[in-house]
Amino acid sequence: MTRPYNFSAGPSTLPESVLNKAAAQMLDYEGTGQSVMEMSHRSEEFKKILNDTEALLREIMNVPDNYNVLFLQGGATTQFSAIPMNLMTGSGKADYVVSGLWSKKATKEAQRYGDIKIVATSEDKNFYYAPKFDKSQFRPDADYFYYCMNETVHGNIIREIPDTGNVPIVCDISSCVLSEPIDVTKFDMVYGGAQKNMAPAGVTFIIYKKGLIKKPMDLIPTMLDYDKQAAAGSMLNTPPCYTIYMCKLVLEWVKKAGGLEAMKIRSETKAKILYNFLDNSEIFTAPVPKEDRSLMNVPFFSTSPELDAEFVKAAREAGFVNLKGHSSTGGMRASLYNGMPIEGVEALVEFMKKFEEEHKKNV
Ligand SMILES: Cc1ncc(COP(=O)(O)O)c(C=O)c1O
Repeated sequence: MTRPYNFSAGPSTLPESVLNKAAAQMLDYEGTGQSVMEMSHRSEEFKKILNDTEALLREIMNVPDNYNVLFLQGGATTQFSAIPMNLMTGSGKADYVVSGLWSKKATKEAQRYGDIKIVATSEDKNFYYAPKFDKSQFRPDADYFYYCMNETVHGNIIREIPDTGNVPIVCDISSCVLSEPIDVTKFDMVYGGAQKNMAPAGVTFIIYKKGLIKKPMDLIPTMLDYDKQAAAGSMLNTPPCYTIYMCKLVLEWVKKAGGLEAMKIRSETKAKILYNFLDNSEIFTAPVPKEDRSLMNVPFFSTSPELDAEFVKAAREAGFVNLKGHSSTGGMRASLYNGMPIEGVEALVEFMKKFEEEHKKNV
């Protein structure tokens, strides 16, 4: 069987060696005679898997001891409500940046719980740039400041970590986690769905400073209460055991490959190959300006929706799958997560060159 190159935005391609290891351990995890899928989450074997996963994540991301690390269910979307329920209990105010579909959804959800101010947005240009912040717009009495570092649908990245004074910073890093080093100490909370760079779907990581939560809202569901989850070691109920195990295998792979500095080089190399081609193409364009471009998610367009559809179809037939853009944007999007080898991007660009040659005469 030949594996296609999978450019899905998530769930996404995983390193082949990780899948092979999971396959080899499927029926017998380290001599236990059991699959990890079958183990009790209270067993010593699984507790070790969970502890090892947390230790690896702390080591790779350089997470200090004064931060809690949680592995929960519910996805990043559940945190859109859990964040205000845990944190918006002082002034009842929070400041949000709306830089794409995901921060827009997070903002909309937070508006159900308190007074939300949008301090910057790039919606005027369909989110195809990273908005700049004006510090004077931040409210010094806000309970927290929220933004999404890498907008998966629109392909922009906010590189500047804002100066918010004493206001805690909460950041969605779903689609850029593990792609390059992130200084966790600059944030009070970072979180995300793991189904892009970290694991299959099913687990959400939450990394937050101990003492951040003063008093959650009275009606917060127990499962969304971060401090209660931390006290229970992410095990208030049955955790997503197998996904956590897969996360451990991915983290082992990242460590062996050289950690986040090595991932950064890989990410930059892959992104450069694709953006260079797009910037010089006669039929394809990348909508995000150079300084705001995501290394992980590359949206692009051809000259018409019809040609976009033809390209996506031809690419799929040639072994490049999941290149169709998000339903809200149209066009195409190539996600270049860690599991995508450099050769995959090189092969895609070769294919695009051929497609361009065949179609530019019709433009
Ligand atoms: C940046 C970002 N935030 C949040 C989400 C929502 O994640 P989930 O599906 O885990 O709720 C996604 C999903 O693609 C995302 O890319």
